[in-house]
Amino acid sequence: MLANLANVSYIGATILFILSLGGLSNPETSRRGNLYGIIGMTIAVLATVFGPRVTAAGIPWIIGTMVIGGSIGLYAARTVQMTQMPELVALMHSLVGLAAMLVGFASYIDTSTVLSGAEKAVHELEIYIGIYIGAVTFSGSIIAFGKLSGKIGGKPMLLPARHLLNLIGALLVIYFAYDFMQAHTPIDGTLALVVMTVVGLLFGIHMVMAIGGADMPVVVSMLNSYSGWAAAATGFMLSNDLLIVVGALVGSSGAILSYIMCRAMNRNFLSVIAGGFGTAGGTVVKKADGEPVGEVTPISATETAELLGSAKSVIIVPGYGMAVAQAQHTVYEITKFLREKGVNVRFGIHPVAGRMPGHMNVLLAEAKVPYDIVMEMDELNEDFPTTDVSIVIGANDIVNPAAEDDPTSPIAGMPVLQVWKAKTSIVMKRSMASGYAGVDNPLFYKENNRMLFGDAKKMLDEVLVALKG
Ligand code: TAP
Repeated sequence: MLANLANVSYIGATILFILSLGGLSNPETSRRGNLYGIIGMTIAVLATVFGPRVTAAGIPWIIGTMVIGGSIGLYAARTVQMTQMPELVALMHSLVGLAAMLVGFASYIDTSTVLSGAEKAVHELEIYIGIYIGAVTFSGSIIAFGKLSGKIGGKPMLLPARHLLNLIGALLVIYFAYDFMQAHTPIDGTLALVVMTVVGLLFGIHMVMAIGGADMPVVVSMLNSYSGWAAAATGFMLSNDLLIVVGALVGSSGAILSYIMCRAMNRNFLSVIAGGFGTAGGTVVKKADGEPVGEVTPISATETAELLGSAKSVIIVPGYGMAVAQAQHTVYEITKFLREKGVNVRFGIHPVAGRMPGHMNVLLAEAKVPYDIVMEMDELNEDFPTTDVSIVIGANDIVNPAAEDDPTSPIAGMPVLQVWKAKTSIVMKRSMASGYAGVDNPLFYKENNRMLFGDAKKMLDEVLVALKG
């Protein structure tokens, strides 16, 4: 009876998790998606704790640890800054990896169920794979956390024989899998597991250390996927169907997200994992003789305000610099002012603007910019030729025409927002420094482009004052 009830609850929770993922795919439905997720998880936890597999003696332990874990989680979620979200997520993934490792070792040491033959072999394989994925996820996520929080430098660490080292690691893991499956005593088996765990931990560290700080969001999304597979492996070890299904959902959605991010950056997933990209950002690109690449036309905040005030249609393209300057609230004030004057203001969002998926959407939502004027790149690119002013706030790579015109450019083929097709484009940034990809931007030198140099927040404040004046 209890088992049936738990199974029905698990099916309900699975449906809610699927609805939650669907909801989270759109800013307008994301709150609902979150709610579905919360209800699904509550049902899943209750069905597990009060289900047939937990004895009465275990319940106080579970409640005690849940209170401690829940309090820490609540505190972390309430105090974390929006910009620290990726590092918090990385830290959470490390816990999933750690849990998979611990459950794996516990399942192996636990002698309460005696298996034999094929069943025993399958169970041991589940343990081996689960611990390995857990170890890679755990150490990889800790390093990703370190890089994202600036505790470890963002520069990729490229060891001379790194691919060979990875190959040796993979061969060791395969060898010890064989050793583990053949082990005659629990001590031999545990020894093989420990060696494999150490190799897995080292592999996770090595893999993420080789990846540049700016590629970290793809890595976090990839580790999200790993943590899903680690949870699915844990589900197999514990024969828990819900954990298998939810782990697979997280694993596959993380993999799809990593793929989408790589495609929007025109990068190959394997090249991101191989590491070594994204270190040159922030440098000023010059010609071989040290001369600047071209001439730019600066503009003042007052002139910007005049142009905006006399425009009928404006497209705002925010990027990483808007996040750094925390300029989203002033952007909203300017948007509100222009809309009240009857100007058609819209936002163009590139899929990899900023440094994490949905980065710009989150900031604009926080500043209360209405969803219906925040458009995806594909929805808006055709409208630039009929737009009076396009204004780029701390973005660079995502508006670089070289991606379309220069086949030799490192970002050739990356889809970009065609801001230069507007009557006038204004780029707001502090200097001529390159963006994340470290490449020059020919947009800056175009005849119809103006450069508004300065911190985005400071300059936008000045634009707002001039507009109101
Ligand atoms: P970037 O190309 O990195 O350009 C950002 C620009 O903002 C910089 O050139 C910088 O110029 C300017 N900036 C920095 N601080 C500023 C401030 N306080 N005020 C004004 N400007 C400031 O950013 P993007 O255009 O958003 O493109 C994102 C890049 O990140 C892409 O190359 C993408 O592939 C990569 N990436 C994105 C993701 C995700 S998921 N979003 C993940 C990994 C990588 P100054 O220094 O001159 O001010």
